[in-house]
Amino acid sequence: MEERLVSSGASSEDVSLEYSLRPQLLRDYIGQDKVKENLKVFIEAAKMRGETLDHVLLYGPPGLGKTTLAAIIANEMGVQLRTTSGPAIERPGDLAAILTSLEPGDVLFIDEIHRLHRSIEEVLYPAMEDYCLDIVIGKGEAARSIRIDLPPFTLVGATTRAGALSAPLRDRFGVLSRLEYYGPEQLAQIVKRTADILGVEIEEAAAFEIARRSRGTPRIANRLLRRVRDFAQVKGDGMIAYALGVEALESLQVDRLGLDHIDHKLLRAMIEKFRGGPVGIDTIAATIGEEAQTIEDVYEPYLLQIGFLQRTPRGRIVTHRVYEHFGMEVPK
Ligand SMILES: Nc1ncnc2c1ncn2[C@@H]1O[C@H](COP(=O)(O)OP(=O)(O)OP(=O)(O)O)[C@@H](O)[C@H]1O
Ligand SMILES: [Mg+2]
Repeated sequence: MEERLVSSGASSEDVSLEYSLRPQLLRDYIGQDKVKENLKVFIEAAKMRGETLDHVLLYGPPGLGKTTLAAIIANEMGVQLRTTSGPAIERPGDLAAILTSLEPGDVLFIDEIHRLHRSIEEVLYPAMEDYCLDIVIGKGEAARSIRIDLPPFTLVGATTRAGALSAPLRDRFGVLSRLEYYGPEQLAQIVKRTADILGVEIEEAAAFEIARRSRGTPRIANRLLRRVRDFAQVKGDGMIAYALGVEALESLQVDRLGLDHIDHKLLRAMIEKFRGGPVGIDTIAATIGEEAQTIEDVYEPYLLQIGFLQRTPRGRIVTHRVYEHFGMEVPK
């Protein structure tokens, strides 16, 4: 999923670092305690019974650790992880090829699972339920259906939009886990862990400052840390002290709530052009030149979470908090 700080200069270093920063085991996965506790039980129970883990659906906003968790599940089960994504599977045959090549017990991770075509979902139903494929060969009168048995496997699906999943697909997952935005303590812990891996020293207060400005999102916390580390290297002595951290974050145009220039543009447009709303998502999107889908998936969830936006049947409205944050007078 595209993100602001990605588009403004993600290097291949960022991408490979993101990979190496991923915790490998549940105990190294910080936060999401409820999800973790439950998964731990389900994994242990499946292992005790010598069975494969039931299918797991992970949902929640981008960058909260869905892909990371999928890999951890495979690790903890001691099986291989096979990775694909909804848009990558174009024909039913593509999915059939993947499914028939699985080893018993494997985890098949389908990212962006809400983007699977309906015709492909239908192949998935019997595969998930009975570990088999029903394939129609031939045409017209000669057409017949053959059944191919599959090895037992665990499907882990990830999506930022659980609501976009069809009900029959959603119902076939035995475990549904919703990831929540992280609190500042957990994010600070993630920042310190990452700093440790990167071999950079960071003051506690600086770690918290990065945490507070990371929109509850580990990916953003890690990215901000790497950029702040650049500042520390060039403008300081390499160590991330609090004052240097704040200065760097200001230079990165991330405000004290973690809102960046696009959030600002969106909120200001709503205030200045639509008197704070209500205004529809498509209108907002057209006004600021962003895609409605991106606003809904990436920007809006956090603004809703911190009480800056409200959804009403007539559209979005900004709350008094936005006026206060911008130092504007709250309209009557
Ligand atoms: N609980 C966690 N503890 C430590 N690091 C984490 C945690 N969750 C995520 N991260 C870090 O955040 C980064 C992003 O996580 P990940 O790629 O798993 O998110 P995602 O939910 O799959 O995002 P998307 O929806 O964009 O695919 C990872 O590189 C990982 O290092
Ligand atoms: Mg992911």
